[in-house]
Amino acid sequence: MISTPRAVLVTGCAGFIGSNFVRQFRRKFPKTAIIGIDDFSTGRKDALDRAIKFYQGSILNDKLLNKIFSKHRPEYIFHFAALPRVSYSVEQPVHTSEVNILGTVKLLTKAKDYRAKRFIYSSSSSVYGGAKKLPTKESENAPDPKSPYAVQKLAGEPFCKIFSELYGLDTVCLRYFNVFGPGQYGDSPYSTVVSAWLESLYFPKKKMAFIEGNGNQSRDFCYVDNVVAANILAMNSKKPLGGEMFNVACGSRTTLKEVKQLIEQYSGRVLELQKRPPRIGDVLHTHADISKARKRFGYSPAVDFKKGLKLTVAWFETRISKD
Ligand SMILES: NC(=O)c1ccc[n+]([C@@H]2O[C@H](COP(=O)([O-])OP(=O)(O)OC[C@H]3O[C@@H](n4cnc5c(N)ncnc54)[C@H](O)[C@@H]3O)[C@@H](O)[C@H]2O)c1
Repeated sequence: MISTPRAVLVTGCAGFIGSNFVRQFRRKFPKTAIIGIDDFSTGRKDALDRAIKFYQGSILNDKLLNKIFSKHRPEYIFHFAALPRVSYSVEQPVHTSEVNILGTVKLLTKAKDYRAKRFIYSSSSSVYGGAKKLPTKESENAPDPKSPYAVQKLAGEPFCKIFSELYGLDTVCLRYFNVFGPGQYGDSPYSTVVSAWLESLYFPKKKMAFIEGNGNQSRDFCYVDNVVAANILAMNSKKPLGGEMFNVACGSRTTLKEVKQLIEQYSGRVLELQKRPPRIGDVLHTHADISKARKRFGYSPAVDFKKGLKLTVAWFETRISKD
């Protein structure tokens, strides 16, 4: 039986995953007050849901956080806000650490002070840094971050655990793998493969997409609805989660060559890709073992890669008429 929370806080509510989360959460829990915070550093005004109570500003702003927590006392915090681009974190290690680490600690502190029921943290598969064993289990692969971003995401995890142990704030860390779907624009230099390729296919004047190496590298691509579902399931877990980390992925992998073929099949267009040499240090394959999340809170990816890609192509089709 799913209980209806009185109020929840969604950080990064104007971002790709945050905005998908808000839309679906609202449909599922129409009586819950949704409070959102975003400073639009990567988020988009047009992704904002007008029906939520929105605060524009940074998660680093203590005054704003005090106001939000004292006024709304959210029971659950879904923490999506971050500066999530690997190469940007390489260029800006200080600023990204402030937002991604300090921002998380500030939110954890407020969640503890105001006795939230659970803090749901968006971690990342990047903490593995190229896992040695596939499919990757949380327990068998010690983190080995390879970028400031990955270190920052990893740092949030022991902070969550410590807040559970020291202060009794229940927390959980969800390690998302290669999320894609509607609402993910591919026009930034940091875009990931599905969105970047679709952007160049549908808006060719904007940029030419590229492929690095022979395209045999593969990824566990996870459709955004699965990530949304995992967050809601984690919220609903009857048992405390105590800062544990869980892979959230599809549990299967697709090569970049296959991604190209499927995009062409679903769109009926030819995807031209500039060939580039393999990226040094690029991970060859990612593939998650998702059995821990399945066992602990019933996670099962309802949308597989092909279905998710079809839905994403359909979303790009709708953008043609708007752009
Ligand atoms: N997209 C993926 O493949 C992926 C994979 C693993 C983990 N994640 C994590 O999921 C979360 C959401 O990622 P996304 O893909 O939706 O990224 P996104 O960039 O679309 O969304 C992040 C949102 O956070 C907001 N934000 C950034 N700094 C802020 C600040 N100081 N104060 C308030 N808001 C701020 C941005 O404006 C944006 O709306 C991030 O924590 C990211 O690290 C994403």
